[in-house]
Amino acid sequence: MRALTTTLLLLCMLGARADEHEHTYNDKEEVVLWMNTVGPYHNRQETYKYFSLPFCVGTKKSISHYHETLGEALQGVELEFSGLDIKFKEDVMQATYCEIELDKAKRDAFVYAIKNHYWYQMYIDDLPIWGIVGEADENGEDYYLWTYKKLEIGFNGNRIVDVNLTSEGKVKLVPNTKVPMSYSVKWKKSDVRFEDRFDKYLDPSFFQHRIHWFSIFNSFMMVIFLVGLVSMILMRTLRKDYARYSKEEEMDDMHMDKHRCSFSQLIDWRGSMLSTAIFVYAATSPVNGYFGGSLYARQGGRRWIKQMFIGAFLIPAMVCGTAFFINFIAIYYHASRAIPFGTMVAVCCICFFVILPLNLVGTILGRNLAGQPNFPCRVNAVPRPIPEKKWFMEPAVIVCLGGILPFGSIFIEMYFIFTSFWAYKIYYVYGFMMLVLVILCIVTVCVTIVCTYFLLNAEDYRWQWTSFLSAASTAIYVYMYSFYYYFFKTKMYGLFQTSFYFGYMAVFSTALGIMCGAIGYMGTSAFVRKIYTNVKID
Ligand SMILES: *[C@@H]1O[C@H](CO)[C@@H](O)[C@H](O)[C@H]1NC(C)=O
Repeated sequence: MRALTTTLLLLCMLGARADEHEHTYNDKEEVVLWMNTVGPYHNRQETYKYFSLPFCVGTKKSISHYHETLGEALQGVELEFSGLDIKFKEDVMQATYCEIELDKAKRDAFVYAIKNHYWYQMYIDDLPIWGIVGEADENGEDYYLWTYKKLEIGFNGNRIVDVNLTSEGKVKLVPNTKVPMSYSVKWKKSDVRFEDRFDKYLDPSFFQHRIHWFSIFNSFMMVIFLVGLVSMILMRTLRKDYARYSKEEEMDDMHMDKHRCSFSQLIDWRGSMLSTAIFVYAATSPVNGYFGGSLYARQGGRRWIKQMFIGAFLIPAMVCGTAFFINFIAIYYHASRAIPFGTMVAVCCICFFVILPLNLVGTILGRNLAGQPNFPCRVNAVPRPIPEKKWFMEPAVIVCLGGILPFGSIFIEMYFIFTSFWAYKIYYVYGFMMLVLVILCIVTVCVTIVCTYFLLNAEDYRWQWTSFLSAASTAIYVYMYSFYYYFFKTKMYGLFQTSFYFGYMAVFSTALGIMCGAIGYMGTSAFVRKIYTNVKID
């Protein structure tokens, strides 16, 4: 008998699961073991229904299907009743609950699963349990199935606080035999408090590693240095410039009239997850519309309906486009990530009947309340020719270089975030994340201000898109980093997982880029406004 204790991990705590029951049990009350998914260990997102493998169901049949929330449906959570008879605080000795009649096809299915390191996930009272399907011997000829699920459940008072699964009973897979599946349940008193029962899934030694602290410290030093540098250089040179410009009395070379079209819709950003994300996106639509509409009107844009549509649907279209594309592959693979048709319709309805009208209201308000041009100084109608300059002062080069420092300040955090999304870690150090976000904002703003300053110094007035893009180019580095991460830090394989990875990484990078771009643009426009206001007063 060889025991194989499996790691217990939490896939997702998203979604309001608490409404299913109160998490309290009377003695001998039924406890449901839900089977969720099965899939290759290295491809976290490639999951299939547990019963897509020819496992057999226990004899107990009563429970109806678990109802899903929108977020769970989008994530492919698919709970099915195991058929195991488990009662609160009632031990079960090893008992066979069903037999698999192993024909050739079933054996092949299991062999395929074992070869690909499949493991499955179950839930007891919302606590996730993971187990391995089977094992191959060293020379890869014989395959064995773990047939005995040994459950140890810890209880504290009338609540379940801990579950351990041990897989035993290795049975060789031979066609045309019967494989009995068995389970046992042992209840143990536990001191774990109900509120703390998820703590064992967290991994402090990973997230609180010295590297993590060190990177924060590092970025922090970079911020101090950058802010110091920016304020020093700018204070010195600005003073000179003020003097010069007030002599020349020529203050008209701020050409804000360029590139007005289709800029404003990129100045909105948000990011969260699934149900919450959809809700937050819809709820912030008026704000989006307001800022998009007013910025576009201030820049003198005329085709505001087009602007509003782009502003409202750019991000949803990007996300949904990627999701639907991956969905086709998921349907082809029969993966549990396939989004049900009803869910797709619901998401589309939210887009058209909630997000669009709210955006319309916001846009109209924005155009009317804050749509007047308010340039701090007179703007020339005719743009000036841009003088020749060195290659490294070209906007394209500045844009490419602009993203390096912001990326440098976040890439260690990216590693932790990626790992918690693509591998089996639960991200819980949101303090770190907020700190890094603040650092990212400061670095982005500093860098774009420096870029813009060089650009304007070279008498190039095209600072708006340049500031946006030089901040947004952070995302290109993040996307490049995601390639490195894929090839060197994970062992993902297969069309489904690969397209899932790169598709969603593209969405993530784009959203990050838009966020950085918006921050960079807002910081820079405040800066530009400031210097030109000062010029006028002098
Ligand atoms: C589960 O395993 C952990 C670690 O081996 C142990 O501390 C805990 O007491 C176990 N819980 C139960 C209910 O057996």
